Amino acid sequence: MIKNADRIYYGGDYNPDQWDEATIDEDMRLFKKAGINLVTLPVFSWAKLEPEEGVYDFTWLDKLMDKFLENDIKVCLATPTTAQPAWLSKKYPEVLPVDKSGRKRTHGMRVYFCVNSPKYRERAAAIARQMAQRYANYPNLVLWHVANEYGTYCYCPTCEAKFRKWLKNRYGTIENLNDKWHTCFWGRTVYDFDEIMLPTELNDDYRFNPVVNLDYMRFMTDSTIECFENEAQVLREYTPDVTIQTNISGHIEKLDQFKMTRHMDIAAWDNYPAPGADPAFVAYKHDLMRGMKGGESFMMQEQSPNQQNWQPYSKLKRPGEVRMISYQAMAHGSDTCLYFQLRQSIAGEEMYHGAVISHAGHENTRIFRECAQLGKELQKIGDAFLGGKTPAKTAIIFDWDNWWILEFASKRCLPNDDFNYLKKMSKFYKALYDANIPVDMLSVDGDFSKYKVIYGPFLYMMKEGLKEKIEAFVRAGGTFVTTTLAGLVDENNRAVFGEYPGAFRDLMGIWVEESDALRKEERNHMVMKDGFLAGDEYACMYQCDIIHPRGAQVLASYGEDFYEGTPCFTVNTYGEGKAYYIGTEPDGAFLSALTEKLCADNGIRAPYRADPGVELTRRINDKNEIVFVLNHNQQEASVDFENDRLIDLISEKTVTGVTTISPNDVMVLKKAETDRKGKDS
Ligand code: GLA
Ligand code: ZN
Repeated sequence: MIKNADRIYYGGDYNPDQWDEATIDEDMRLFKKAGINLVTLPVFSWAKLEPEEGVYDFTWLDKLMDKFLENDIKVCLATPTTAQPAWLSKKYPEVLPVDKSGRKRTHGMRVYFCVNSPKYRERAAAIARQMAQRYANYPNLVLWHVANEYGTYCYCPTCEAKFRKWLKNRYGTIENLNDKWHTCFWGRTVYDFDEIMLPTELNDDYRFNPVVNLDYMRFMTDSTIECFENEAQVLREYTPDVTIQTNISGHIEKLDQFKMTRHMDIAAWDNYPAPGADPAFVAYKHDLMRGMKGGESFMMQEQSPNQQNWQPYSKLKRPGEVRMISYQAMAHGSDTCLYFQLRQSIAGEEMYHGAVISHAGHENTRIFRECAQLGKELQKIGDAFLGGKTPAKTAIIFDWDNWWILEFASKRCLPNDDFNYLKKMSKFYKALYDANIPVDMLSVDGDFSKYKVIYGPFLYMMKEGLKEKIEAFVRAGGTFVTTTLAGLVDENNRAVFGEYPGAFRDLMGIWVEESDALRKEERNHMVMKDGFLAGDEYACMYQCDIIHPRGAQVLASYGEDFYEGTPCFTVNTYGEGKAYYIGTEPDGAFLSALTEKLCADNGIRAPYRADPGVELTRRINDKNEIVFVLNHNQQEASVDFENDRLIDLISEKTVTGVTTISPNDVMVLKKAETDRKGKDS
């Protein structure tokens, strides 16, 4: 949670480098009118603040800071280190990165520096120190924002040297590296760490070798963490009580965010759903952010109040849409609602990106009115759900190493390379989301004991201790579900020797002899036995494992192909619990039916019964239990609150029993004290 926060921070990125004083004064008026209480700046102003090496000029920023203070606007102060000044790249070309194809990049793009460059780090820490010293006692400083959207991979000589050191540190000896990387295959033995190359396009072997790629992704995450810490440590020295974070790009795949966020005081991310995106997919990423710190609230650091200009078709946000996606973020655990950006740029790459104040320059626009309405509502809501947590008894294991190895690193090795981790995992999430079952996205290092049901789909890579941890969870009465691909390799991508599914053989009580790859459009069927689920048959895709039960009970078998009639879905009783194995990728209908069954078996319920398309979540803090109701339908829908009486903090009306909610509308309901008691679980 954000330290010392007493309200939802509402506002966003402000880039006043572009504006004269009169415009800035007008913005103060408009911000107040919109209920904006926080600005993030100066994200891209390094060139302005340090025009020459070691020569700083903060007069411009000082004046702005005074203005925010006068107008009671809080500041999320950004170190401007994402866009290094031209003099830095010119004087010290080592700061410029080398890309995967081996090209040295020229100056000019933001987030284009080598995270390992000592000169970059030296200058970045220096300006961070200047800012921290200067503004440490500034009363409206509530957040630090380090750089912006890290994620550029570099392959320069500095990175090469550091990677070799990193490997030495990880593997100790060259013999151990040869063993773990299994270099005896294709005669790739190395005799010294300095013979190890980077996985660039200049080297087809290293570029396609799964374990080298995987280690490079791990190394880039560690290097980025060091780069973040390089500044964060300085900030902590001066302002130990101010929350420090960096905004995670929507392209979350680039860095292991579980590792990154361990170094941040709060997880923060940029939410840019594609126009018309399935609300389940948006919620999924928010829940992933809530999972970063084991269920703590997070920050939505950016979203567009209107169109995003970098898509082929810059769709306007429909009336009510920005309000809906804002409440959705908060419903899933965000304690902020922040935009990129507050005033629309006059020129440059993002001149047609949406903003609270458009080129028109005044408040008489649809988007300004919508943002101002939301600002007013948030003022009313105050701190009602701040820091509130979501009580979940189900979880989905999500893991970057698995993502990387399945999607990027092993593309050429797997039986079927049509693998999109984020999408495939989202099918499991959607089944829970559609039923309004709260779900936590769980790291492999997380606390499993909080849950009754854990899904570990496509859990291919089994890091040390994970097998034992999952077995202990099931033995103690937990329900665990996994799929094809699970349990097959260790953390160096070496096959767990012996029968498939490797690490899961005992737990699942099966033996998988072979796995058949299905083409993209190809389907097989899961023919259910004994009415275990509501439907008789469900489609399945991607891959079909040929399974021999070894104590497991068969729940479904394949409907087609030479393995027709053989098991595709099994359950094994293990200790007090149950372990389900889905030997293929099932369709959404199967997952919905399975969710219903497992929730019923484990006494897990949605907060209330609601029409399809109505999203319900809960957040509980020390003071309140808040229920969010989001009607994503274009028509009226209803929710049954049974005998509970709840007060809508927006309309101030009390609801109880079967209640209708208008199309696209939102309710933020506070439970009456009496209703909270018996129901907290
Ligand atoms: C990213 C960046 C912002 C801005 C937005 C536009 O998230 O962090 O500076 O470029 O995209 O969508
Ligand atoms: Zn580099």
